Amino acid sequence: LIAFDKSDLSAFLDDGVHVSRWRLTDRHVEALVKQLPRLGSRTDAVAFEADGQTPRAYHGGFERIELYDQLTRLDVLMAPARQILDDHVYVYQFKVNLKAAFAGDYWPWHQDYSFWAKEDGMPSPRALTVGIFLDEVTEFNGPLFFIPGSHRSGCHDAGEGRRGAPAPDEWQQHVAASLSYQTDRDKVAALAARRGMVAPKGRRGTVLFFDSNIVHASPQNISPSERRMLFVTYNAVSNAPRQTRRPAFLVNRKVVPLAPLDSAHLVEPATA
Ligand code: SIN
Ligand code: MN
Repeated sequence: LIAFDKSDLSAFLDDGVHVSRWRLTDRHVEALVKQLPRLGSRTDAVAFEADGQTPRAYHGGFERIELYDQLTRLDVLMAPARQILDDHVYVYQFKVNLKAAFAGDYWPWHQDYSFWAKEDGMPSPRALTVGIFLDEVTEFNGPLFFIPGSHRSGCHDAGEGRRGAPAPDEWQQHVAASLSYQTDRDKVAALAARRGMVAPKGRRGTVLFFDSNIVHASPQNISPSERRMLFVTYNAVSNAPRQTRRPAFLVNRKVVPLAPLDSAHLVEPATA
């Protein structure tokens, strides 16, 4: 089983973000990329940039595409999630952020758990996200920025859960550059003054873990290179929301504990 060792675990717990020692092979990334048009074909689950034309993100749909369904079960992703959350896990959310060359807009500072608490009534922040680089990420094409340690500062606006039926397409505000729940600038400044920021870069296939409460953001992509990133969010099975207002392509309702699949043939050391 490809899992975190002690030093990976303590780095993740300290920083709230950690790059795996394992990377998906180029071959496997190519296979994943080939299936992207199938994900984008469910147009009701596609978010667009402000120009109304450039796809910004594809949501859900992993269950109908075998390779993605398998991806969510690979031990390189799942085993650390189980270790960290100390429970069986299931897929809470699956998405691909496309950050198109020249046109991919920014993500303001936020904490993911704000959305899951307020919109979905997720009881506690016992969830985490794994990001997989589908393109090389450089300083130019809009890398994610994280504030290490900020996941320990609590959730700054978890507050009351929202109730009742949302307006149609309200979910778009949860994935747009004008994000519904953002972290205050003062708070970001204070947190960054303590531990600074990191912007993980690396080859395609890089696998990145981050905590549900870590404060993060990413700038626009004005470079000529795409920055496609796939995200799998795992939740502890004991932490499933009882009800949610949002569509199933954003919040998976199937709370089924996953069994890990051996990924040894699909990964290589990230240092190679
Ligand atoms: C996110 O915060 O969910 C993703 C941001 C990004 O893709 O850069
Ligand atoms: Mn986020």
